Amino acid sequence: MRRKISVIGAGKTGATTAQRLAERNYADIVLFDVVEGLAEGEALDLLESGPILGFDSNVTGVTVTEGAGYEQLAASDIVVMTAGIARKPGMSRDDLVTTNQKIMRGWAEAIKQHAPNTILIVLSNPVDAITQYAWHVTQFPRARVIGQAGVLDSARFRTFLAQELGVSVQNVDAYVLGAHGDSMVPLPRYTTAAGIPVTELIAPERLAQIVQRTRDGGAEIVKLLKTGSAFYAPSAAIAEMVDAIVYDKKKIIPCTVLLEGEYGMQGVFAGVPVQLGANGAEKVVEWNLNAEEKAGLAKSVAAVQEILKVMGI
Ligand code: 2OP
Repeated sequence: MRRKISVIGAGKTGATTAQRLAERNYADIVLFDVVEGLAEGEALDLLESGPILGFDSNVTGVTVTEGAGYEQLAASDIVVMTAGIARKPGMSRDDLVTTNQKIMRGWAEAIKQHAPNTILIVLSNPVDAITQYAWHVTQFPRARVIGQAGVLDSARFRTFLAQELGVSVQNVDAYVLGAHGDSMVPLPRYTTAAGIPVTELIAPERLAQIVQRTRDGGAEIVKLLKTGSAFYAPSAAIAEMVDAIVYDKKKIIPCTVLLEGEYGMQGVFAGVPVQLGANGAEKVVEWNLNAEEKAGLAKSVAAVQEILKVMGI
C-alpha cells in the first residue's frame, strides 16, 4: 500500500505543498479545507497533471464541515498543517496567534482522534507556539510533532549569501535556529560556502545586513504580495522535511521541536538542528554555541514563551 500524506489547508501553501509531494510519486495525497469544493478542485486539477508529469500519486480533496470530513485523516503517515490566516503588510507572525490557535485546536483534536500514529508537521504561524499547541492538544511524543521554520529561514539566508558571493546556492550551507520571527538566530559561524565559513568571505557589516534581510525575509514578501505570504519556499521546505522522513535519511536540518534540556531549555518549542528520519524528529543535535549565539537562542525562546502565555498554555 502506498503511503498517505494529508495536507490541511488548500490555500497557496497547502496546494503547492500537495503539488510538490504528489510530483515526488511516493505517496497518495489528501488535501483538506473548510471552503466548499476548494480542496476537491485543487486536488482534481493536480491529479490531472499526473499523466503529463508521470506520477501515479492519487490526489483527492475533502471539504470539512462541522459533522464530516475529519475522518478522512485516518491512516495518514504524515499530516502537514498549513491552515490558518496569513499576515498582511505591517503584521507580525505573533499577531495571528488567537485565530490560528483556534484553527489548530479543531484540527489537532481531529488528528489525535483519527490519525493517532501520524507524524505531524506544522507550518501555521506563529509556528513555534502553534506547534507547541498542537503537541499540547495531541499529547503525541515529541518526535512526531515538528514545526517547519529553520529550513525556510536557512534557505533565505543561503539565497542571499549565494547572490552576494556569486556562487551556486548548492555551495552554501547555512543554519538558522531559534524562533521563526524577529528573534531568529542565523549562525554565520556554522555557515559555509564550499566549506569556507562565510565569516572569512564577507565583511562583518555586510554580513550583518544579510542576516537582517534573512530575519525580515517573510515580511519582505508579505510587503510585496500585499494580500498573502510566501508559499513557494515554505512548501519546498516542507517537502525537504517529508523527503527526510519518507526516505529515512537521518538528515540534520533545523526544525522546531520540543526542547527537553537540550541547549539548557526545557518544555518549549524552538528551532534547533534535528535529525529527521522515519520516526520523525529522532534526535536533537547539540552544537557548541558561543556566548552570543546562546544569548540569541535564549532571547528567541523567551519570545516563544511570551506567545505561549497569550495562548494560555
Ligand atoms: C514566511 O516566513 C509564511 O512564515 C512564513 O514566509
